[in-house]
Amino acid sequence: MIIKSATFVSSNNRVDKLPAPALPEYAFIGRSNVGKSSLINALTGNRHLAKTSQTPGKTQLINHFLINEEWYIVDLPGYGFAKVSKSSRAAWEKFIRRYLLLRENLQCVFVLIDSRHEPQKIDLDFCYWLGEQRVPFMLVFTKADKQSQAQSDANIGKFRKALLQWFEETPPHFLTSAESRLGCAELLTAIDEINAK
Ligand code: GTP
Ligand code: MG
Repeated sequence: MIIKSATFVSSNNRVDKLPAPALPEYAFIGRSNVGKSSLINALTGNRHLAKTSQTPGKTQLINHFLINEEWYIVDLPGYGFAKVSKSSRAAWEKFIRRYLLLRENLQCVFVLIDSRHEPQKIDLDFCYWLGEQRVPFMLVFTKADKQSQAQSDANIGKFRKALLQWFEETPPHFLTSAESRLGCAELLTAIDEINAK
């Protein structure tokens, strides 16, 4: 897929205020600082589209970006940020879960996982919840440029193995880097294929 245009549409903290669900939508979710906003910028070839930060917790709202005037990419706030208070964590959970369950044009959730780490409970639990709720998702391993391919592959293997304790098969996965754009073409192709259905 060629990205011809990528524009910011809106930031929302309420599910009932989101853009009309008239176009296919793809959400990016994962731990704080995993690289959601950076990957969105790499995919769209626009460094300034989604706001990135070294400090976890940068993205606080549901941000919609319109791509090629045909579909939406959605940048979601990260989960698992230790410094967030219990009450705001609970509010996040409620808001995001409502979004994931109610958004009728949501085609696929991309769950971003840091490829440098062994499987983390919070990511596995989130995937389990998506599976249980029948929300379609794929796995996106990030920051591949930070270590060897062998290390990334080992962590991906462990993550998939952990998921197989719950699921009969694992969803498709991508190894990506926002720095080198590794995996970006493959991810866009996957979106293209779903859009074409
Ligand atoms: P929140 O919005 O806080 O949940 O974070 P996020 O998941 O959107 O992460 P963000 O894209 O802001 O990136 C966090 C940090 O990781 C930034 O310092 C990025 O430059 C860095 N980063 C993200 N992706 C990559 C990558 O592929 N490679 C490298 N080397 N650094 C990355
Ligand atoms: Mg972000």
